[in-house]
Amino acid sequence: MDNNTRKLITIAIDGFSSSGKSTMAKKLAKTIGYAYIDTGAMYRAVTLYCLRNHLFNGDALDVEALEKALPEIHISFAVNADGKTETYLNGENVETEIRQMHVSSKVSIVAAVGSVRRALVRQQQAFGKDKGIVMDGRDIGTVVFPDAEMKVYVDASPETRAQRRYDELKAKGDNITYEEVLANVMERDRIDSTREESPLCKAADAVVLDNSHMTIEEQDKWLLDLYNQRSKQ
Ligand code: DC
Repeated sequence: MDNNTRKLITIAIDGFSSSGKSTMAKKLAKTIGYAYIDTGAMYRAVTLYCLRNHLFNGDALDVEALEKALPEIHISFAVNADGKTETYLNGENVETEIRQMHVSSKVSIVAAVGSVRRALVRQQQAFGKDKGIVMDGRDIGTVVFPDAEMKVYVDASPETRAQRRYDELKAKGDNITYEEVLANVMERDRIDSTREESPLCKAADAVVLDNSHMTIEEQDKWLLDLYNQRSKQ
């Protein structure tokens, strides 16, 4: 069955940090010709704005100042020459910087602010209004697109996820230890799943994918099979 005989659907992929969800979501979107949005990148871009504008004092965030600044924070995505989607903050390509540790260690604090979430969720819903989209994050199946035809909840142990993030950061030349990465992963898990505003939780109708012991190829096939089922006319 080719794409012309399939219906356009919305695909929500949620899970903890470094669960591999962005890689598989991106790959699926490319294979089936859908748009892809990494909502974590949006929270990261807002965090970078806060850091650059001195809205943090240690771990204390000036929420009032951030709320005032929200109308001036514009996040967009563009596909670069090699087909990779990159994140822009007020017109500047910030794709590399938002993945660095100084942003990772503060992003959960920004993502817990209700007014930030409401502004970003509105934008995410606008991106997906015509379906044909793969979106990954924490609350996509529960809050952003509760009616999505395909919802996946990706799970893997903190140690597996920390090892993946550590390998990624090392490959980029970051000077960091595995223990630091594991501590950051566990702290973000704690904040993301216990916050009051849209905590990470599995939607009742999401399918769980535990990829701790799966190869990338196995994951990709699993996801594509599910898409083939859900997009049948
Ligand atoms: O997926 P990630 O590690 O890039 O996400 C960065 C942070 O943003 C993480 O602390 C969780 C938060 N986030 C969120 O609260 N809601 C989303 N839809 C996406 C990310």
